[in-house]
Amino acid sequence: MKVRKKASSIMLAAVLTASSLYAVPGQFVRTAEAAEIKAGNPDSNAFDQKVIARVDAARMMEDVSYLSETIGPRVAGTEAEKQAADFIRKRLESYGYTVETQEFGIPDKMIGDLHTSDQQGVLITIPSGSGLTPEEGITSELFDGGLGRVSDFTEDAAGKIALISRGEFTFAEKVTNAVNAGAAGVLIYNNVDQPAPSNPSIGGPYDIPVGSITKASGEALLKDVAAQNKTVTLTVKSFKNIKSQNIIATKHPKPNKGGETDIVHISAHFDSVPFAPGASDNASGTAVALELARVLKSYPADKELRFAFVGAEEIGLLGSEYYVSQLSGNDIERSIANFNMDMVGTAWENATAIYMNTLDGKANIVTETALATAGRIGTPSELVLYQRGASDHVSFHDAGIPAVNFIRREPVTANLEPYYHTPLDSIEHISADRMKEAGDLIGASVYSLIRK
Ligand code: BES
Ligand code: ZN
Repeated sequence: MKVRKKASSIMLAAVLTASSLYAVPGQFVRTAEAAEIKAGNPDSNAFDQKVIARVDAARMMEDVSYLSETIGPRVAGTEAEKQAADFIRKRLESYGYTVETQEFGIPDKMIGDLHTSDQQGVLITIPSGSGLTPEEGITSELFDGGLGRVSDFTEDAAGKIALISRGEFTFAEKVTNAVNAGAAGVLIYNNVDQPAPSNPSIGGPYDIPVGSITKASGEALLKDVAAQNKTVTLTVKSFKNIKSQNIIATKHPKPNKGGETDIVHISAHFDSVPFAPGASDNASGTAVALELARVLKSYPADKELRFAFVGAEEIGLLGSEYYVSQLSGNDIERSIANFNMDMVGTAWENATAIYMNTLDGKANIVTETALATAGRIGTPSELVLYQRGASDHVSFHDAGIPAVNFIRREPVTANLEPYYHTPLDSIEHISADRMKEAGDLIGASVYSLIRK
């Protein structure tokens, strides 16, 4: 990675300011002493206060509510994701930005729906290789197919949806055995407790629909449906030529320096996984980024600031990859930092730390700037430098741009909130105080980089 001269001098300044807070990978940076530093720090800091005084927790909570409750789950390529994009675009326009909508294609995919006869929806993922169903789906009793061995199937399996547990041998063999037994469909349930269905490699393509469900769902179906001869309805549809979109707002430096200044990117994904209102993941990061767009709009800055609200993160970071692919060589040269926010507002009580995930686990200009800021402003939470990908900072990192994902986690274990990727990822589990903390920390950090 190329270290630009300007960037490195800023980094040095940040390290010096934060010398007692220098980040060691995986270790806590105890900001308990931050209040002291703040009290004793004469230049804590009119600039920071300009940001902090305006970051409005109530407004961010309203935006989380709109995204997660009014719109709800915002799966990549769906109308709901587009509604979220429209909401973000209009909001940015209302703040006076000229906004670019960047449309991109996403791979064809299959989407499933599974309902019991008493209208209980079951979380389902469709692995590639599954067959499709008619529009109205297939309705059938369940056959308890055990592990899916040949000997687990009887004549009774014919025409039914086979419910098969993960484990002991391959998914492809299980599905093949079900097909040979004449099953009308297959549901594979996990053998370990995870909040979301896994995405098994099943081989194929098969003529019958195949879905993946959680361990909890599989066990519930065995007990409440299979054992009682009730039915389920399974629908698998194919979606082709689907589009997602990024929404981009740029704040140009003043006076306009004609494309020669450094660029700081703030990013947040606004899509969610199916069935999850995505309040934490990631209406929280979206709402903080929107608030920073509002707060920072009118403040003079000598660097360029770009807000990238990206779609299709949950299906493989597609929005941020596309965003980065559209940057010119000159844009990338000028890019000194990416602050990515993903899951910054959980109220889960164990998530007392703000993790700064970098792809290589190393400190960079973003972690050092955030540490220096936390020291000045007295951020209550511990900041932890940690090695982790799995969010949009990866796309920036891959382009050589120093990048961090800010994410709340439990210290030491690095556990995420238990609501992650479930229908419980709702606004009841979002903390206005933690939204404010993220907004203050990242807002003041960004401002310290871009201001004159
Ligand atoms: N919001 C999560 C971020 C995350 C980061 C989760 C680190 C867990 C650890 C993100 O939206 C997500 O769920 N990412 C996917 C991977 C992505 C490439 C589809 C994941 O971690 O499963
Ligand atoms: Zn996310």
